[in-house]
Amino acid sequence: MHREDFGRVRKAVFPVAGLGTRFLPATKTVPKEMLPVVDRPLIQYAVDEAIAAGCDTLVFITNRYKHAVADYFDKAYELEQRLEKGGKDDLLELVRNVLPSHVRAVFVTQPEALGLGHAVLCARPVVGDEPFAVLLPDDLIWSQGPGALAQRLELARARSAGVVAVQEVPREQTGSYGIVAAPHFTDRSGRIEAIVEKPRPETAPSTLAVVGRYVLPARIFDCLERVTPGSGGEIQLTDGIAALLAEQPVLACRFEGRRFDCGSRIGLVEATIQFALEHEDLAEDARRYMRAALGD
Ligand code: UTP
Repeated sequence: MHREDFGRVRKAVFPVAGLGTRFLPATKTVPKEMLPVVDRPLIQYAVDEAIAAGCDTLVFITNRYKHAVADYFDKAYELEQRLEKGGKDDLLELVRNVLPSHVRAVFVTQPEALGLGHAVLCARPVVGDEPFAVLLPDDLIWSQGPGALAQRLELARARSAGVVAVQEVPREQTGSYGIVAAPHFTDRSGRIEAIVEKPRPETAPSTLAVVGRYVLPARIFDCLERVTPGSGGEIQLTDGIAALLAEQPVLACRFEGRRFDCGSRIGLVEATIQFALEHEDLAEDARRYMRAALGD
């Protein structure tokens, strides 16, 4: 079969149709991806990372209750007019730059939350026949150099293969992740030989866990079409990648930077603390408050 050209990946898929039950009751009305870390919603961090990596078509997989995500990326005429009239140019720029003018957003509805693999499959009509990126906004990756997606794209281009982000996790946590077997893993990357969703610690093939950044060939859609419900009764992206491995290489690659699991409450709290401590306006006050709160 033909190998796809990873030279130019323009489309980024953001699956945001999950139910976010770990944040109830907040997520009864506010989508998890709209929860803020300091002053920006989670989705904005992921969108910025995709745009910085060269993507210009953003595909959001939403559900019928998540109007907030589409509204957020829509033009806010009244607000912009007011800011303009009030001479608040810096705020106006912030609001306008939510989505730069060369970038287009496409919204696709996932009719039922059947799993991450199914959500990615919903992007097929927009992505078509070219390699694409997938970013899970609840994995927030803080990095001082190039973003985690840009790092993955560089490797995908160089090796002409799909790439999945991984990080080492404690063995007792393998049941919360997709886990890869990559026996020839060097210090940064290696070819995946097997991938399993949420294995028990005693059966996990390694402790290299998948994190929410992927570069995938369009061929994954055919694989996902054939996937039947797996772990948790969901159509898993992991199972689609497992099927893809039989046809073409996929690489696992560590990233430079720190990941916050903002799909969990403690992850969101940690990210908020970290980003406040790094924030140019807030760092000093945040530090002072934390010292006082800890009684130091
Ligand atoms: P999660 O496993 O975090 O599920 O999904 P969730 O439903 O959002 O959260 P909890 O566990 O109930 O708190 C991982 C990613 O896949 C998306 C989610 O939006 C999240 O970005 N997803 C999951 C979908 O888009 N559709 C699905 O059917 C399932």
